[in-house]
Parts: sequence; C-alpha cells; structure tokens
Amino acid sequence: MEKWYLMTVVVLIGLTVRWTVSLNSYSGAGKPPMFGDYEAQRHWQEITFNLPVKQWYFNSSDNNLQYWGLDYPPLTAYHSLLCAYVAKFINPDWIALHTSRGYESQAHKLFMRTTVLIADLLIYIPAVVLYCCCLKEISTKKKIANALCILLYPGLILIDYGHFQYNSVCVAS
Ligand SMILES: *[C@@H]1O[C@H](CO)[C@@H](O)[C@H](O)[C@H]1NC(C)=O
Repeated sequence: MEKWYLMTVVVLIGLTVRWTVSLNSYSGAGKPPMFGDYEAQRHWQEITFNLPVKQWYFNSSDNNLQYWGLDYPPLTAYHSLLCAYVAKFINPDWIALHTSRGYESQAHKLFMRTTVLIADLLIYIPAVVLYCCCLKEISTKKKIANALCILLYPGLILIDYGHFQYNSVCVAS
C-alpha cells in the first residue's frame, strides 16, 4: 500500500487519544472493599503468579473466589500471569499474596495502563490496520479513513482506558 506514512499518523493519533484518556482515574479507584475492574485485573495477577494453575479456579484460603474470582478463560489468565512477571520485576508488593489487596499507587496505575496500551499495540491495532488494508476495491484514502474511524471508536477507548479492561484485545481475537 502506498501512503504508509498516513496510516502511521492514524495509528499515532489512536495511541495519543488512548494515552490521554488513560491519564484520568479509573472506576472503583479508592473504593473498598471491592474497588473495581482495575483491582480485579491486579488481583488476577496476584493469584496466577502465586498459586499453581490447578488452584486458579478453586476456592481456598489463598483464593477467595468471592473476591474477584477468576471468571475468564485460561488465555486471559495467562495474560495476567505474563503481566504479573513484569509487575514482580518492578515491584513485588504489587502482586504479593493477600497483602497486595486493593493496592493503588501512581506507579502501579502507570504500569496497568501501559499493559493495556501494549496489548492494543501488539494485537488490536495491527488487526485493524491489516483489516483496513485488505479491504477490496476502495481507494487508499478510504482505507485510511476507515482505520481512523475504527481506532478512534470512543466506546472501546472509554471502557479500556477510562474504566479498565482489555476489551479491544478480545474484539480482535
Ligand atoms: C471461599 O474461601 C473463603 C476464604 O478464602 C471463605 O471465606 C469463603 O466462605 C469460601 N467460599 C465458598 C463458597 O466456599
């Protein structure tokens, strides 16, 4: 495709908007006892990192399923585990069994936001760009306009970056 530079600009705009939205707070911030989806994601990192796979989905003294029990399929759990390894490397307190519950800090928020952005960058955005480039019988200009519309679709951006989830990745996979 010619006009690669325009597609690059579209991707950069998509990333900038995502990062700007993510500078705001997330829902559930500072609201014990359950906090919100942000804490759910953090808690899954704690569980997948500290417990053997076969205990992930079962209630135990180390894994109270009433508190954000893992209720997503294993692929998501392995994604949590992957993030947990990075978290452990940066600050083990973030995923310490039991004691990390409800952990919140600026640095941790930055880390969590970054994991969403990286997941988008590796999976969702390439999928959108590929999809738009493969559209048949439309001009390059239209392909780029399509990519811009999809990447700036506000619903997903607000949920993933304002609220806190990884929905874009689910849509792509
Ligand atoms: C699960 O385990 C927790 C302790 O971690 C306990 O308080 C809770 O009652 C258990 N729930 C069920 C359904 O057994």
